[in-house]
Amino acid sequence: MADDCDDVCHDDNRDDCRDERQPVLRARGVTRTYHDGNQDIRVLDSVDLEVSAGEKLAITGESGSGKSTFLHLAAGMDLPDAGTMELLGEHVNRLAEPERTRFRARHIGLVFQDYNLIESLSAGENIELVGWLTGRPASVDDIRRLAAELGIDELLGRRPDQLSGGQQQRVAIARALIHQPSLVLADEPTGSLDQASAEQVMQVLSQSVDARGCALVLVTHSETAAARCDRRVRLRAGKLEAT
Ligand SMILES: Nc1ncnc2c1ncn2[C@@H]1O[C@H](COP(=O)(O)OP(=O)(O)OP(=O)(O)O)[C@@H](O)[C@H]1O
Ligand SMILES: [Mg+2]
Repeated sequence: MADDCDDVCHDDNRDDCRDERQPVLRARGVTRTYHDGNQDIRVLDSVDLEVSAGEKLAITGESGSGKSTFLHLAAGMDLPDAGTMELLGEHVNRLAEPERTRFRARHIGLVFQDYNLIESLSAGENIELVGWLTGRPASVDDIRRLAAELGIDELLGRRPDQLSGGQQQRVAIARALIHQPSLVLADEPTGSLDQASAEQVMQVLSQSVDARGCALVLVTHSETAAARCDRRVRLRAGKLEAT
């Protein structure tokens, strides 16, 4: 595959021509220290992790153990003090801006606890916006198909304040998936939902990443949500341990 890609890949096409056998995400010796006054807090201490294509991984750990810190590093939204974070073989922390943002927009779908939808846009426009940002606008049909899969096709004309929490999170999942990312990073996506909505949201998230063969890294405090994943690890004292 690499040889074929060398022949056909130039600039804009290059992102699509990556070796599918390599891990989607590979963290090596990732360390992140925050400075608080005179004190250094080493939140992540030489963390190693590999996530394969199509794998669903749950990261658990107590509040403050560094789960969100790890996801921000994986998304290239923050940089490690030491170590490397590779996404599809690309060293995310070595990319300069604006390439890092462009790379993230192209390959990663992000889902947050508080949905992060733009209040002044309709659900459909929130989903559509990603395509404009990545320079690959989704067709109306693609958006409708994905919305139907997530059970929100009747709601695309509504603004976020006209939707329930579970409906908003399904819109956010559609926004994360519309550009067919290789990796979805979800930070407590069910953390603001009641149990019934949380289960519905985890079911659609799990099914839709399975259907696309994309990998999922799910940060969660929920045992039920973690149980939907193929593998679980826990962050404790800056280290990742298998559970
Ligand atoms: N920008 C920052 N500056 C200083 N300290 C920070 C910063 N961001 C996070 N921290 C600290 O790093 C530690 C890990 O934070 P993080 O948000 O990654 O935890 P978490 O595991 O996601 O917790 P939660 O389950 O509550 O979301 C915490 O002690 C937090 O106070
Ligand atoms: Mg967090």
